[in-house]
Amino acid sequence: TRKLIILTDPGQDQAAAILMILGQRQTFDVLGLVATAGNISLDHTIANCLKLMELAGRPDIPVFAGCLHPIIRPLVMAEHVHGPTGLDGPDLPRPSIGPQEKHGVDFIIDTVRAHPGEITICSLSPVTNLAMALRKAPDIAGKIHEVVAMLGAYFEVGNITPTAEFNCYVDPEAADIVLNAGIKTTLLPLDVTHKMRSTPARLGAMRALGNRCGVATAEMLEFSETFDLKKYGWDGAPLHGPCVPAFMLAPEMFSGRQINVSVELNGTLTSGMTVADWWQITDRPRNVFYVTDGDPVAYYDLLLKSLENLP
Ligand code: BDR
Repeated sequence: TRKLIILTDPGQDQAAAILMILGQRQTFDVLGLVATAGNISLDHTIANCLKLMELAGRPDIPVFAGCLHPIIRPLVMAEHVHGPTGLDGPDLPRPSIGPQEKHGVDFIIDTVRAHPGEITICSLSPVTNLAMALRKAPDIAGKIHEVVAMLGAYFEVGNITPTAEFNCYVDPEAADIVLNAGIKTTLLPLDVTHKMRSTPARLGAMRALGNRCGVATAEMLEFSETFDLKKYGWDGAPLHGPCVPAFMLAPEMFSGRQINVSVELNGTLTSGMTVADWWQITDRPRNVFYVTDGDPVAYYDLLLKSLENLP
């Protein structure tokens, strides 16, 4: 099994990603979730993580609270997409346990040091807590197996500003630290997530699984997609988060390139943009495997198969 730490600010699409991971127990061993401030404030993202563990019948997986704010900037949230709790839609079960006492940043540091070379950081959110862990304990950079993150946009431009993707925009300084830490990194940006659309037939199949995790995921995505359907006018909304576990489970489903990606920190119109050197115009190091394409049919099949294994 692959040992994972999940960074998350759920978020309906991230709930789908987390459930997809929990439905693949032969492959993934989740050591803990670090709740991040992002889509909504930290108190809500902690509660949402705990509710999801309850829904999946996995209250044994520890949830850690991360930082209250991005490293430098005030928090920008996305309640307009995800609702006032950040995870509106279905009635989710009340958590039977609380968050851990240890801070999420220390959990990352201690876990990576305890399992050198073995931990995959599976990031669905802004990367604030990983960046803070790298600042506090730079030795962990060489001990992380890899980072797989839903973050960034280039060809598909932005979703929170014309040029920036939300997870990068919320904490660009953190993204800059992580992308320059010398860790093997894969990015799943909007360029690929926009191709993975939750059509009515795909959500119908999810609901038809009939188990509580399948039905709740369909209900969550039906809530969050209303915003995107209006915005894009497509037959389904992009489904971002599950691209991370799908890439880990079936990389052959995706394609991309090893290139340099740098984060714009100062632009007045482009702050938080991930500048992808697709044609290798610069000699900057190729720090990222940047994914631009994927197979939506295989993706939704894998998501359904994973959700089917849950209560
Ligand atoms: C990302 O932004 C958030 O609102 C979603 O949950 C996802 O992590 C997509 O840009």
